[in-house]
Amino acid sequence: MSKSYKIIDHVYDVIVVGAGGAGLRATLGCAEAGLKTACISKVFPTRSHTVAAQGGISAALGNMGPDDWRWHMYDTVKGSDWLGDQDAIEYMCREAVPAVLELEHFGVPFSRTEEGKIYQRAFGGMTTEYGKGTAQRTCAAADRTGHAMLHTLYGQCLKHDVEFFIEYFGLDLLMTEEGACAGVLAWKLDDGTIHRFKAQMVILATGGYGRAYFSCTSAHTCTGDGGGMVLRAGLPLQDMEFVQFHPTGIYGAGCLITEGSRGEGGYLTNSKGERFMERYAPSAKDLASRDVVSRAMTIEIREGRGVGPKNDHIYLHLDHLDPAVLAERLPGISESAKIFAGVDVTKEPIPVLPTVHYNMGGIATNYHGEVLTKLNGDPDKVVPGLMAIGEAACVSVHGANRLGSNSLVDLVVFGRAAAIRAAKVVTPGAAPREAPAAATEKALDRFDKLRHAKGGSPTAGIRDQMQRTMQTNCAVFRTGDVLQEGCKLMDKVHGSWADVDVKDRSLVWNSDLVETLELDNLLGQAMVTMYSAANRQESRGAHAREDYPERDDKEWMKHTLAWCDERGKVTIDYRPVHTYTLTNEVQYIAPKARVY
Ligand code: FUM
Repeated sequence: MSKSYKIIDHVYDVIVVGAGGAGLRATLGCAEAGLKTACISKVFPTRSHTVAAQGGISAALGNMGPDDWRWHMYDTVKGSDWLGDQDAIEYMCREAVPAVLELEHFGVPFSRTEEGKIYQRAFGGMTTEYGKGTAQRTCAAADRTGHAMLHTLYGQCLKHDVEFFIEYFGLDLLMTEEGACAGVLAWKLDDGTIHRFKAQMVILATGGYGRAYFSCTSAHTCTGDGGGMVLRAGLPLQDMEFVQFHPTGIYGAGCLITEGSRGEGGYLTNSKGERFMERYAPSAKDLASRDVVSRAMTIEIREGRGVGPKNDHIYLHLDHLDPAVLAERLPGISESAKIFAGVDVTKEPIPVLPTVHYNMGGIATNYHGEVLTKLNGDPDKVVPGLMAIGEAACVSVHGANRLGSNSLVDLVVFGRAAAIRAAKVVTPGAAPREAPAAATEKALDRFDKLRHAKGGSPTAGIRDQMQRTMQTNCAVFRTGDVLQEGCKLMDKVHGSWADVDVKDRSLVWNSDLVETLELDNLLGQAMVTMYSAANRQESRGAHAREDYPERDDKEWMKHTLAWCDERGKVTIDYRPVHTYTLTNEVQYIAPKARVY
């Protein structure tokens, strides 16, 4: 059947899949290094989800008071609840400083202090002197930092004559019999042609899979397409049970209200008007780590102290702040609050609720961006020809919980690191590996089968079941029973995949087929998320088990690896956390109680 598709071949040194912050930074670095580089993206680059990042990018610049990248490292290890790899965290926090200065030189229009330095605001879990004071470490371009970064990086890529393949949907990785990556197959959405990109290195920068949930701050395009491709290639995903709920999504709409609003002095209240965070995090209060704040809000609502007619949400107050500060520092969320909640932030509180925001888990990599699998007892086996960066990846710098503003820095630090590595291992102009013809056939057969799927279950119905199951059974608080039920329900949802129905058979602008391919990617990731969560019998970071309320370092200080086959069978294994640093400028930070 797949013989009926004409394939257009392309050969590059490097193919980057995804044009968000990580993808563009890697693309730029590879092009600068003289590698023939192409970037393929299912959306126009400046519409990638990085555009929605608001509050800022962390780096210990020290523009607003003393700071040190080692304090940033300490905060990140503690924020990760000791699941982060400390070699990677050291790398990120050290490299954050030059990475942000580089962005400034590229032209990112950061907000400024009186002296003209980059403006930095407070964010949750960011401290000075190893937890003693509050750090202002998050570099901001008002509350549109991601927008500013994405447009600047795209401009830089154009300057370096990068080739973009825009509105190409990545279908599958093309793997050799030895398990190396040799390229990627893609579908061009506007004319229906199929393209085979062969390259010495494929870098996946395809973002997170927030849309596995019903309510999230993620764009509709956040379907974790790289993670889906990796699972189909027989490779594992790591730490998928760790899903971050951002404390302040707008009630009902799910749109993000930046943590930067609390960094500028905003605070949360319950139906009694209490600033309840004082009880849960006496020292950091509203600027505790996101998992801590989301749990506190959920407890307040559960115990009957939620606000609104149904007592089912919380208020975020900005109405005490100077309107001039709101206009200068938080113009975007002031507008969002008006549009999506009908609220004038200078006068009324914003109704908010913890909302799915970020995936700490993803494609396992080392700090060079090289994809890892566990093979023949080696837990850190590099998959040749394949890298992953950004939210698609699990480096792991965020461990069990990411600190706000550590994601934008992850994008640029590891986007750059991947380019540096690619420049070492890729020979300009050399022939790429050859995947067998069967690899292309298999990918095309899957595509063709879905295109002609004629069952009784429309894509939207299966997606709705998956999203509601994830939202209900894998939420802020979890129990063994609820997770086991979630596994059964997800098995059922996955089972209905064989009955999927695609109405439109067209190859051109077929959004029904795009959504079906995206759902295939989401389903595998939802499966491994639920099963990994059911398996982990402890509480750590964003994974809060009411039946196992304590962190258990003896048994569980390890990364989950999860595979999911075509029939939805999930296999789970573990690999050790990296408990070493790269240099002796810092020591391993030993686990201790995590209080804010
Ligand atoms: O709240 C925010 O502005 C989000 C930042 C982040 O997730 O890093």
